[in-house]
This record gives sequence, structure tokens and C-alpha cells, in this order.
Amino acid sequence: MISIENKNYVCSFVACLCAVIEEGLNTSVICGIETDTLFERINGEPISNYSTPKQHAFSLKYLPVAIKNGKLGSPVILSLLDSFENILGSLQWYRRDEPQKPKFMRGHANAQIIGPRGIEKRSEIVVGVTLMSPWTQYPYHHHSPEELYVVLSDGDWIQEAGNWFTPGVGGIVGNPSNMGHSMRSKSAPLLTIWCLW
Ligand SMILES: [Fe+2]
Repeated sequence: MISIENKNYVCSFVACLCAVIEEGLNTSVICGIETDTLFERINGEPISNYSTPKQHAFSLKYLPVAIKNGKLGSPVILSLLDSFENILGSLQWYRRDEPQKPKFMRGHANAQIIGPRGIEKRSEIVVGVTLMSPWTQYPYHHHSPEELYVVLSDGDWIQEAGNWFTPGVGGIVGNPSNMGHSMRSKSAPLLTIWCLW
């Protein structure tokens, strides 16, 4: 079971994340996602005890520079990344299984803070993080849950058949249910926190 200290770190992270999303929603152009439900669920209660942290075997060599770059953003981003660093040691990193895309497989890592594989178990929302090496593209995909990305790096996003765009650190990208989407890093690693609900 996770320690009370880590439980508090997750609560702090959630508070910081909500502040970043609220600030980002004021300046980002998004449409068609239900953020009232997001905020309700993100502040919900866990459904069971907390998971036991396990060590991961992935190379996360780009994580320090990605965090450092993100901390050049606004004060709420700085607080979010400070709170994220408190829970780093408890994350169970994993890879999206894409056997036809070995470069992507080598160049990314995902982890859940909240959700089935998260530090805190929830059934109605997943809050996760993705790290990608420079010059890596996440596979174009879609899914039924709505999704919100909190952008923490200078990477590109795309939705449906639109053009690639660069939200910038602190930007918010909202994907309505079943909207196709992808993201890609450029010369810097890409770090983003995402919510699925
Ligand atoms: Fe997605």
C-alpha cells in the first residue's frame, strides 16, 4: 500500500493539475469536451487501496531535460512539475504495444498517476503521463473516452485531418470522443500529462 506521504503527493499533484487546466482553458482553443465531468472525476475518491509501487526497466534519460524545459513555463506549470517530481519514484512506466513501430517503442514511455495502472486506483478517469524522445511520433489513434492533454513541451499535435499545430507549454488539447489524434516531438523531448474520462 502506498504511504500516507505519497497519498498526499497525489492530492497535491491533482490540485496543481486542476490549476493548470483551468489556466490553460482560458487561452486554448478546444471544443466538444466535457470539462465539468473531468473536474468532478479528477477530484473523486479512489475505489480501492493504493497500488504497490514497482521499479520500471525503461530508460527515462530524457525526463530530466523535459522537466527542466517545462519549468520554463508559467508558475502553475512549475508547481505542477514540482508535484510531479514528488511522485516520480512511485510510477510504473510502460510502453504502448506497437510492434510495427520499433522506433516509437524505443522512444516513448507512459505511466499512470490515477487509473487502473496508477498510484491511485480509479474506475472513472485515468490521469497519465507520456514522455517521448526527440523526433518521435505517437501513433495516430482514437478512443471512446474524451481526452485532455496538458502540454509541457514544445511538441506538435494534430486532430482529425487538420494541420499539425504547436500548443506550447501550458497549452490544452481536447479530444472529443472518437476524434483521431496524434502528437510528435521535435528536437526536444516531449512531456505531456493527459486525462481520459
Ligand atoms: Fe489519445
